[in-house]
Amino acid sequence: MSLLEVKDLHVSYDGIKAVRGLDITLAEGEIVSLVGSNGAGKSTTLRAICGITPFQSGKILIEGRDIRSIPPHLLVREGISLVPEGRGLFGRSTVEENLMMGAYSRRDAEIGKDLEKVYSLFPRLLERRKQPAGTLSGGEQQMVSLGRALMSRPRLLFLDEPSMGLAPIMVQKIFEIIRTIASTGMTILLVEQNAKVALSLCSRGYVMESGKIILSDSASSLLANPQVKAAYLGQ
Ligand SMILES: Nc1ncnc2c1ncn2[C@@H]1O[C@H](COP(=O)(O)OP(=O)(O)OP(=O)(O)O)[C@@H](O)[C@H]1O
Ligand SMILES: [Mg+2]
Repeated sequence: MSLLEVKDLHVSYDGIKAVRGLDITLAEGEIVSLVGSNGAGKSTTLRAICGITPFQSGKILIEGRDIRSIPPHLLVREGISLVPEGRGLFGRSTVEENLMMGAYSRRDAEIGKDLEKVYSLFPRLLERRKQPAGTLSGGEQQMVSLGRALMSRPRLLFLDEPSMGLAPIMVQKIFEIIRTIASTGMTILLVEQNAKVALSLCSRGYVMESGKIILSDSASSLLANPQVKAAYLGQ
């Protein structure tokens, strides 16, 4: 059974259709990318799956279980976590306070251990743990946003444009971290405009246009696909 199954998803904003009949599946442990141009509906798709944006019709199943009736704040307990576009940090709160917000729904004794893990993944954040998150560089803020998502111990991690606005060296660093996270067996759906880097990290990919999946294939086939090359790889 798939860990995530999205079937015939439709999402509109005041009658404007942003997602029109989208199907996606993710098996446990897979890292899959979702690429598409501006306005294709990628963020809307992630927000709908994570319960942030309401959807009009379709089904979202986690291990075969329909999650429609679960309120968004409880979806975290189902193991779903989103690193949103634009990072969504609380700028006046410290790095550590932001990280701890990721663990708000947890009651177990391992939160401290997980915080240590995040700091070992991002030593820079340990140095800056008392600093207001809003004063960090863009790349450091992306680290906090990723770290906060990890603090909820997700099974399913959604990353919305983690490389947006970062210098090439920082993009490389963030993707290295994503590779490390993926190697722990976490299931990841990665939305990226940087299709080349995203597909080189993933086994499979979906291409989205005007609210629909128009292509679904292995990453290597997508990288070699003339249509993908022309539209998303600048070749
Ligand atoms: N809150 C909103 N209210 C109204 N329309 C919205 C809202 N959010 C998104 N849209 C519209 O839905 C469509 C899809 O937007 P979405 O943000 O999902 O695209 P995207 O693929 O993530 O694009 P980008 O690559 O630029 O981030 C766009 O036409 C956008 O204008
Ligand atoms: Mg987006």
